[in-house]
Amino acid sequence: MVWIVAFSVSINVLLLVLPFYSIEVFDRVISSGSVETLVGLTVIAAFALVFSACFDTLRSRLLSRFAVRFERYLAPIVLESTIVDATGRGDGRAHDLANLRELRTFLSSNTVASLLDAPFLPAFIFILFFLHPWYGVIALIGSVILLAMGVVSRWVAKAEIAQAQHAAQAAQAALDGIVRHSGLVRAMGWTKGAVREFMDLNDQTLSPVVRASERVYAIGAVARMVRTMLQVAAIAAGAWLVLQNEVLAGSLIASSILIARTLQPMEGLISAWRALASAHEAWKQVQAAAAPMLVRSRRTLLPSPSGRVEVKRMTYRMATVQRPVLAGVTFECRPSEIVVVIGPTGAGKSTLLRLMAGLERPSAGTIRLDDAALQDWDADQLGQFIGYLPQDVQLLGGTVAEAIAGFDEDAGDEDIIAAAVHAQAHEMILSLPAGYQTEIGRDGNRLSGGQRQRIGLARAFFGNRKLILLDEPNANLDPEGEQALCSAIERAKARGATVVIVTHRPRLLTIADAVLLLRDGGQLAFGAPAEVLRRPVTSPVPKPHVVSVNTEHQKLSARETAR
Ligand SMILES: Nc1ncnc2c1ncn2[C@@H]1O[C@H](COP(=O)(O)OP(=O)(O)OP(=O)(O)O)[C@@H](O)[C@H]1O
Ligand SMILES: [Mg+2]
Repeated sequence: MVWIVAFSVSINVLLLVLPFYSIEVFDRVISSGSVETLVGLTVIAAFALVFSACFDTLRSRLLSRFAVRFERYLAPIVLESTIVDATGRGDGRAHDLANLRELRTFLSSNTVASLLDAPFLPAFIFILFFLHPWYGVIALIGSVILLAMGVVSRWVAKAEIAQAQHAAQAAQAALDGIVRHSGLVRAMGWTKGAVREFMDLNDQTLSPVVRASERVYAIGAVARMVRTMLQVAAIAAGAWLVLQNEVLAGSLIASSILIARTLQPMEGLISAWRALASAHEAWKQVQAAAAPMLVRSRRTLLPSPSGRVEVKRMTYRMATVQRPVLAGVTFECRPSEIVVVIGPTGAGKSTLLRLMAGLERPSAGTIRLDDAALQDWDADQLGQFIGYLPQDVQLLGGTVAEAIAGFDEDAGDEDIIAAAVHAQAHEMILSLPAGYQTEIGRDGNRLSGGQRQRIGLARAFFGNRKLILLDEPNANLDPEGEQALCSAIERAKARGATVVIVTHRPRLLTIADAVLLLRDGGQLAFGAPAEVLRRPVTSPVPKPHVVSVNTEHQKLSARETAR
């Protein structure tokens, strides 16, 4: 930063070379007729200009390095905030990174260079006053007019720029969805519709941009006219002063050069305002994303848990849904216990698992892992103890080995293979074209549904997980796969893990130690399988068998019975 300022000072001082050269040539060389003086002055001027070019290059280099450093410093913070903040349902905020990129481009642009030169403009005006007050007055008036036009041009475009930026984000999100599911879009015959949808959104981006540009260009044209007129006025004033013998001809030339040097950047500032406004908008969003990360305090690392989970009067509401998605859920699972969660579609089973995985926070009540509420655990530490298989498996691209170990840098091959063997996926993986090094494609789209599920299982069993959460792990498995799954779960149980499974199929109930029955977000029963399973899951539940006793739940059960 210090060097950037130093170079800016040098560049602007060297800008005075040309006006002083012309004063010297006109007032000294022409009057004296000395060719040596002319040669000497020219050599000095040439040297100064070479230096100026060097400083300019060095400054822009420093600026672009600074910009890269700026992005490198903030990108991890912004990305982390995006990961922590996204609730995992695709509403991530990847555009914060795009904003950061925009800021980097801005920081290394000519706009910043011209903004850096702006503080020297008053010095030029001062020199003009020194040459003759008239010049100074003309430059001052011109600067005020041009700056005012700059402010106006920013003001007329401000709303449009903000609007365009929001629309651009919506268009980008739509585009991501379309490209991501392009196969589906084609198969369903939606290609034309998808293109139209994107173009509509894109038009919403373009029309404010066009409107803003039109206004800014109109103001720019007027500004150019004003500037040129002022330059003409300055020459006319200079000529008049020469005729009155108030100044020498050299100062006429010098002043017209200096006035141009002052007013031209002022005019440039009009377009700089626009870039500045856009960068400011981006900066606000980056700041909003980074701020929570910067104040986040470090969590104390707790000792490795045994795997005891206690869910107590836990209620979960969503901003968009009026009634709670889960209400008054209370149960406990101990290490070496298999809890099976059942209930009709939309009961809140997947939501419960997401909450238990710490992806979501309960609105009321608590979920504790070994006495500590989930939100009191350090997120990365907690992740090491929880194996989670979401309902839609969600494999990260890369190789099979990478899909199992995730971003765990310490993962050894033996750990990966152990997890695969545990999930009985080892042989299946070896039968893939390149075994563990097989590329699985984006989201694992080069694998079959059952293969994806088995690799997802291996991932859930990877490492020393104490709490294993499986959301319909057998949805895509054949009977053989289901059998393998049961023995894998029993082995996890044998080594002391707590396993919570959501399922619609009866097979897994045979290995359950306890069953949790949910319906419409309420807990209908929790207890030994024989006790809970006395009635079928899908048929209307007659009188709810209430295990947990709390008002929230009673209200819900009462409503249930009434219905
Ligand atoms: N992100 C969300 N926004 C709004 N509502 C949601 C969201 N996620 C879940 N829900 C609602 O919460 C309820 C429970 O959803 P959940 O996915 O937990 O059901 P589920 O029991 O797992 O069903 P299934 O057996 O079909 O998987 C549903 O009514 C669903 O519409
Ligand atoms: Mg579900």
